[in-house]
Amino acid sequence: MIRVRPAESDADLEAWRRVRMTVVPNERAPSAEELRLLETPDRLLLVAELDAELAGSGYASRSEMAGLGSLAPRVLPEVRRRGVGAALFEALAEHVAALGFAEANTTIGDEESLAFAKRFGWREVDRQVEQVRTIGREEPPHVPDGLELVTLAARPDLSQWCTRRSRPRPSRTSR
Ligand SMILES: CC(C)(COP(=O)(O)OP(=O)(O)OC[C@H]1O[C@@H](n2cnc3c(N)ncnc32)[C@H](O)[C@@H]1OP(=O)(O)O)[C@@H](O)C(=O)NCCC(=O)NCCS
Repeated sequence: MIRVRPAESDADLEAWRRVRMTVVPNERAPSAEELRLLETPDRLLLVAELDAELAGSGYASRSEMAGLGSLAPRVLPEVRRRGVGAALFEALAEHVAALGFAEANTTIGDEESLAFAKRFGWREVDRQVEQVRTIGREEPPHVPDGLELVTLAARPDLSQWCTRRSRPRPSRTSR
């Protein structure tokens, strides 16, 4: 039997985090304490159980992109294709609709999840290609004439110019 419910207790938040770390291992997952601090009236965190065992988790809220909701069902690899993702999706979509959004976005990183997304009517609108390079013994940089490279430690007064200009885009965004 599949059961989907809000993640409320500390144990629920730990379970939510466990799923997130398993399904998205390359991103830092917030601690249970951080999840509580980041709580907003619009945010919904869900945990899903299959036959009383942890199976998945979900997130829904407003998107950082204007006029959109945002949602993410996540299911542990060993219990996929048993309806848990669909149950999470239904509850998350209902929440986003109750917030007043007719559209939502999500991020997808593999072909199987893309198949799930298409099955539920999502369409791909954006893509990010991740490039990774091993860093080792590096050649000193070529500094063009007229420029000087300094460390921030040597010139802390420059830190005010080091603000992040844009957020990284999700790997595949669907809505
Ligand atoms: C996407 C995800 C949540 C699906 O979870 P799930 O529990 O396996 O999904 P369900 O069992 O409810 O699948 C429902 C339907 O989606 C489709 N589907 C799901 N996985 C599929 C796959 N690997 N290949 C083809 N179709 C698939 C099928 O139509 C399936 O119904 P069926 O099993 O009766 O054929 C899960 O793969 C996951 O956690 N992915 C990583 C996180 C992610 O990308 N989340 C965003 C998704 S919008």
